[in-house]
Amino acid sequence: MAGAIVKYGIIGVGMMGREHLVNLYHLRTQGVAVVAIADPHLPSQQLALDLAHSFTWPLKVFSGHQELLDSGLCDVLVVSTPNMTHHRILMDIINHSKPHHVLVEKPLCTTISHCKEVVNAARKRPDILVQVGLEYRYMPPVAKLIEIVKGGNLGHVKMVAIREHRFPFLVKVNNWNRFNINSGGTLVEKCCHFFDLMRLFVGANPVRVMASGAIDVNHKDEVYDGKVPDIIDNAYVIVEFDNGSRGMLDLCMFAEGSKNEQEISVVGDIGKGEAFVPESVVQFGTREAGRDGVQTLKAEDHRIKWVASLLNISSIN
Ligand SMILES: NC(=O)c1ccc[n+]([C@@H]2O[C@H](COP(=O)([O-])OP(=O)(O)OC[C@H]3O[C@@H](n4cnc5c(N)ncnc54)[C@H](O)[C@@H]3O)[C@@H](O)[C@H]2O)c1
Repeated sequence: MAGAIVKYGIIGVGMMGREHLVNLYHLRTQGVAVVAIADPHLPSQQLALDLAHSFTWPLKVFSGHQELLDSGLCDVLVVSTPNMTHHRILMDIINHSKPHHVLVEKPLCTTISHCKEVVNAARKRPDILVQVGLEYRYMPPVAKLIEIVKGGNLGHVKMVAIREHRFPFLVKVNNWNRFNINSGGTLVEKCCHFFDLMRLFVGANPVRVMASGAIDVNHKDEVYDGKVPDIIDNAYVIVEFDNGSRGMLDLCMFAEGSKNEQEISVVGDIGKGEAFVPESVVQFGTREAGRDGVQTLKAEDHRIKWVASLLNISSIN
């Protein structure tokens, strides 16, 4: 409806939820407002309220998602709670009598059966849109590389190599990200972005996975309720796809001495493209033109109103 405000609610206002609050504020001229939040953690609630007050956005505060749903205040919901809570919250949203569109932070859920349950439930509600926030797709250097690949410039994609070399996981509310049972594990929590990109680049589904990983450096001296974290901090993963393409992930989470956090290389039978994050540089060339023909460009997207936020998004896991 022309002129109507789309009313958002944010479920989970920790680091990501507050990031969404700020980003939605930057979309306010497009007819968007955040009207409610739900989070049981008082310090998170307070930080979100402080932000909203600085935007002069009055917020209704709930301690749980069910009360927010039943309030009927919102049209669209952002779910930015710890991974192990996504399944219950999504099922309650999808099955609620009032339709709410929903953007859920990655990963969708922490188990395959829970993912399938959510997908099947969402398919039965054609009146609502359920989107998983896999935002690496939209980062300017990655989006540019996707455009180059989908434009056929590299030919048939045969190999996708993604290196993520970065700092350890940050501290989260109640340290939920320190245990596989909560996050789904490092390769789910952090690397679902990269398996998503591999599928996108090769245009196929995985059929076989080989992997080797370990807990070698990080979090070994931390103890929570008598338990030491069980999440791996480095891995090599090879994925084979049903069209014969291959992907490889090289993950290291004790690699602060890196210029880029992600280096993405896509090679087809005609050419090769690379993206570097956060440098925001893209390089591409063809076998025919050789090294001298490699083009380098700085990837930018002027439609993004809050660039610093998007480029820093990988820094807040
Ligand atoms: N897209 C990305 O690049 C990216 C980056 C970081 C995190 N994430 C994802 O965002 C989600 C949140 O991560 P975060 O870094 O903001 O964590 P966080 O710990 O900073 O915040 C989580 C918040 O959710 C609240 N919460 C817990 N259970 C809840 C429930 N049942 N209902 C409502 N609120 C609840 C907590 O109190 C906390 O305030 C996770 O799924 C994470 O994987 C995505």
